Amino acid sequence: MTASTHILMCPPHHYDVDYVINPWMEGNIHRSSRDRAETQWERLHKILKDHAVVDLVEPQKGVPDMVFTANAGLVLGDNVVLSRFYHPERQGEEPHFKKWFEDNGFTVYELPKDLPFEGAGDALLDREGRWLWAGYGFRSELDSHPYLAKWLDIEVISLQLVDSRFYHLDTCFCPLSNGYLLYYPPAFDFYSNRLIEMRVPPEKRIVVNDDDAGNFACNAVNVGDVVVMNQVSDDLSRRLTEAGFQVIQTPLSEFLKAGGAAKCLTLRTTEPVMPNVHAVDSVVSTTITLKGHLLDAGIINRALDLVVEGGGSFQVRNFNLGEQRQSTSTADVHISAPSNDMMEEILAQLIELGAVSLPDDQGDAQLEPVSQAGVAPDDFYVTTIYPTEIRINGEWIRVGKQRMDGAIAVKETPDGIVAECKILRDLETHEKVVVGVSGIRTVRKPESREKRGTQEFGFMSAGVSSERRVELVVEQVAWELRRIRDRGGKVVITAGPVVIHTGGAEHLSWLIREGYVQGLLGGNAIAVHDMEQSCLGTSLGVDMKRGVAVRGGHRHHLNVINTIRRHGSIAQAVEAGVVTHGVMYECVKNDVPFVLAGSIRDDGPLPDTEMDLIRAQERYAELVRGSDMILMLSTMLHSIGVGNMTPSGVKMVCVDINPAVVTKLSDRGSVESTGVVTDVGLFLSLLVKQLAQLTSPLVNA
Ligand code: ARG
Repeated sequence: MTASTHILMCPPHHYDVDYVINPWMEGNIHRSSRDRAETQWERLHKILKDHAVVDLVEPQKGVPDMVFTANAGLVLGDNVVLSRFYHPERQGEEPHFKKWFEDNGFTVYELPKDLPFEGAGDALLDREGRWLWAGYGFRSELDSHPYLAKWLDIEVISLQLVDSRFYHLDTCFCPLSNGYLLYYPPAFDFYSNRLIEMRVPPEKRIVVNDDDAGNFACNAVNVGDVVVMNQVSDDLSRRLTEAGFQVIQTPLSEFLKAGGAAKCLTLRTTEPVMPNVHAVDSVVSTTITLKGHLLDAGIINRALDLVVEGGGSFQVRNFNLGEQRQSTSTADVHISAPSNDMMEEILAQLIELGAVSLPDDQGDAQLEPVSQAGVAPDDFYVTTIYPTEIRINGEWIRVGKQRMDGAIAVKETPDGIVAECKILRDLETHEKVVVGVSGIRTVRKPESREKRGTQEFGFMSAGVSSERRVELVVEQVAWELRRIRDRGGKVVITAGPVVIHTGGAEHLSWLIREGYVQGLLGGNAIAVHDMEQSCLGTSLGVDMKRGVAVRGGHRHHLNVINTIRRHGSIAQAVEAGVVTHGVMYECVKNDVPFVLAGSIRDDGPLPDTEMDLIRAQERYAELVRGSDMILMLSTMLHSIGVGNMTPSGVKMVCVDINPAVVTKLSDRGSVESTGVVTDVGLFLSLLVKQLAQLTSPLVNA
């Protein structure tokens, strides 16, 4: 069997490191020794000749990497798919390899222009011939894989490479005889590792460590039970021996400087076709259109990153760049993914960025009935904060009650079809739910550049502000609060007890009294500590003026709870003159509705605290509806809860001393949220000072 194995090599007469197209070449330009390269290559050649017939292709001037014949093409039977090199530096090799294949009786398949594929460097046959492992991510495009499947009539398993040092599949992956696999898992993404583990049983996987991987241990030539490789660790050599292989190590340091070793220097040109093995092509592709300020707003970058992170690959087609500052751009992006599931994941995220299918590909949304109340069909589309439309009978209809993490429920009513976002527990059995990703789009109105640039920049510069920026943000929030109040808008505050502990109660009270707040959301604690302070002057037993614990103070908050319970509600305690100032007092006096959501740690609770959590969520949602701005003050849980039920377009300002909380809440996209890392008491006092300065009433801005 070994006698019939043919291997193609190319003598290194013109070999050198002339340019940098992979990380190994960096710092190595003209640093390899031609003599030593010749010697190392000769040794490899000699070893291989003992186990196979080695054919040679004439080396050519000007294409130093031609020694790496693995990249000539991919052979199966009499067919070869010729490489299309990604880097122009290597494209000059193509005609020479093509000629060699033709002269040697192969049928040569050539990929469309601009579809890179680097031959057996990125495509490795299972040694039993059952399928083809194909890599993508750096050199070869995922879109080349369906061609391989079609032309070579074999199943292709696409593996995504994620570490630029292992830019070709054969640098980190080596199928061996008897179903063994030598490989370096960190070079692959999570999903690819799963694919590998599904095909290769654990006892057949020989995992290489970082050091051996860096020495190109996976770049090995396997003929029968012989494995030829650069020098590797004793441990790896022993493990291979135990698996029944004869390990032959030969130094290839000069070629490592160009990012190649034993396997790269060879191309197996005898690859028998297995009977009963046929193409299965799981790569799926589609084209979507993106529209908006694609460059200015960074949408195109985000979209393409999403595709790649999701394990897909893309080609941007028809990019129409808006010429004026105000004009929007459009781009058609062709996307491929190794499986349908992965494609759906990618598309779901692109829909969030406003992507739509090409008009010809547009289908209706797929609906599935709810068969159990409160439970969605698998694969239901998970909603986002963005206004959404679904296509039904060829028409786009707007989804009502937009919120994130819901399902889209559709029902027929006498007035037509109605679609709305619903949380899972509210789904009813006569409804249908949107599944998959077809026929769904989100409507993102393009932000004007001007607006983003100036007026609203506080809300635009998403992310967490540094301490220096706090005053600036406060200024903007003050303006915004003023503007909303003057036009009769709605501001909702969600606040935690820290507001009281940090001395913010008087400021928050002022905001309520002056009409800047139209709703208050919190838990049991903020109300308890607020009233403890207004009735007893302490917050959790600490004297708020002197900052010291008061004797017997530990029972203060329970005394307050007890008192309010005696009166039946906060409002009644206010009426009875028991609570005379503070946040809750102002809410009652100014008819500002509040909802207190209970939790497992609540003392009491206050009679007003809603201990039915489902009911509490509903009441929160009711109060949030229609708001223009939400100020989130030092309460992670209540703020996240509110964020989840709020559609896009509502401005959110999240203030917390903990950057993690702020980051978590301000990653809704730049237009939506601003985070401020600071002491909330300080923030409120600055805010009140600012507002007090803005005396002249604002005429509609
Ligand atoms: N310098 C060459 C390149 O970057 C090395 C190719 C190594 N070949 C391989 N099959 N991994 O393309």
